[in-house]
Amino acid sequence: MEKMITNVKGLQGTVAVPGDKSISHRAIMFGSMAEGKTTIENFLAGDDCLSTIACFRKLGVEIAQDGTSVTVEGKGVKGLKQSDTILDVGNSGTTIRLMSGILSSLPFETTLEGDESIAKRPMTRVVQPLREMGAVIEGREDGKYTPLTIKGGTLKGITYTLPVASAQVKSAILLAGLQANGKTTVIEKEKTRNHTETILQMFGGNIVSDGNAITVEGGQSLQATSVTVPGDISSAAFFLAAGAIVPNSTICLKSVGLNETRTGILDVLKNMGATMTIKQTNAPDAAEPIGDITISTSNLKATAINGSIIPRLIDELPIIALMATQADGTTVISDAKELKVKETNRIDTVVSELSKLGADIVATEDGMIIKGKTSLNGGEVTSYGDHRIGMMLAVAALICPEEVTLHDAEAINVSYPNFFEHLHQLMQK
Ligand code: S3P
Repeated sequence: MEKMITNVKGLQGTVAVPGDKSISHRAIMFGSMAEGKTTIENFLAGDDCLSTIACFRKLGVEIAQDGTSVTVEGKGVKGLKQSDTILDVGNSGTTIRLMSGILSSLPFETTLEGDESIAKRPMTRVVQPLREMGAVIEGREDGKYTPLTIKGGTLKGITYTLPVASAQVKSAILLAGLQANGKTTVIEKEKTRNHTETILQMFGGNIVSDGNAITVEGGQSLQATSVTVPGDISSAAFFLAAGAIVPNSTICLKSVGLNETRTGILDVLKNMGATMTIKQTNAPDAAEPIGDITISTSNLKATAINGSIIPRLIDELPIIALMATQADGTTVISDAKELKVKETNRIDTVVSELSKLGADIVATEDGMIIKGKTSLNGGEVTSYGDHRIGMMLAVAALICPEEVTLHDAEAINVSYPNFFEHLHQLMQK
C-alpha cells in the first residue's frame, strides 16, 4: 500500500491510542495457560497480537475476538494440545520468543515460523537458555534462525544472566520456569519492560523481583481473570512527537500506559524541553498505571540518549530520531545496538529514510548522530515492512512542504491499525 501525505496546518484534538501490544500478547498467553474464562478489554487487534491468538487457537484454545474485546477459555497449561500444522507468528518477535518458552515444557513437538523479517532475527538468545533448561530445540543454523522446532518435556530451573537487555528473552525463560522443576531466576543488568511480571500476578502467578533478579517457582497453576489493556505508550509516542514538531498543535493522548519501564520517551521529551503535561488517572483495579498526556508544539533542544534509559524507550528511537531533526543542536543516540535486530535494522532504515527527506543524520556502530534543526523536504520513502518506521515517516511527512509517498504503509497494521484514521481526525482543515 502506498500513502501520500503532505504537510498540515496543525494537529488538534484527543486520541485514545490502541491497547498496549506487549500486554495484549501476554493477556492471551496467560489466559490460554490459566484455568477458566479470561476477558480482555481494549485488546490490540493489530496483526502481531492476532498472530498470537491464531497460534493458541491451533493449540486447541477457544478464543473469541470481537474487535477489542476478547474471551479466552483456558483449560490450564496441560490443556494445550499439539497443533496439526506449523504455527505462523507473522511479523511478531514477541509471539515466537515467548511461545518458545511456553512450548518448551509441553509434551509434544511444535514448529514455529514467521515472515521474512522474523527469518532474519536472532533466536539463539532464547534457544540457548531454553536448551539449558532441558528443551530440545532445532532450527536453521543450529537454532540461530527460524523455523524452530521445539520438543518440549521436563525442564529444570536455572539461574540465567541476560547477555542482552531483552524482555522477550527474560519472559521466555520465566514462562518456561513456571512449569520447570525448582526455581528459575533471571538476572538483568539493565531493567527491561516488566509486563510479564505484572500480568502474571493478575493471573495468580507467584513471581518475585528482588533488585535485578526475577524468580519463579515451577509447577504453578494460573487462574483466569479480567484484563483491561492500557493504551500503548509506544503508539502514543508517534502523536507525542507529531504534537511537538507540527506547528499550531495540541494533542491529548488518553489512558496511556505509564509503567515506568516504558516511559523513557517521556523523560526524553522533558529533556528536550517539550511543552507537556501528564495526569495520572488510574482505574482502581488496573494492573499498571495509566494517564492522559497533553503535548503542544514545542521548541525542542538536542539531547544525549544512552545507558539504562535505552531499554525503556527502545521502540521509540525511530520517532525520537525524527524529533531530533527538529531540535536545536546535535543529538547523540548510543548503546542502542539492539536496534539492528528489530523488525528491520532500525539504525539503517531510520538513517536511510530520514536522509532521503533531507535530514542530517549518520549511523554509528550503536546508534546515530542527528544534527538539527533541519527542514525536511519530501520525496519517496518506504517502511521496509516495519510498522514503526512507517509511522515515523508518516509523522515526518506532516512537516514536509512537498508531498511524501510512503511505500509499504500497510506494515503499520502490525501495531496501530487505525493510525491514519486517528491522524486525519487531528488534522486542521
Ligand atoms: C517486547 C520487548 C522488546 C520490544 C518489543 C516487545 C515485549 O523487545 O522491542 O517490541 O513485548 O517483550 P526485546 O525484548 O527483544 O528488546
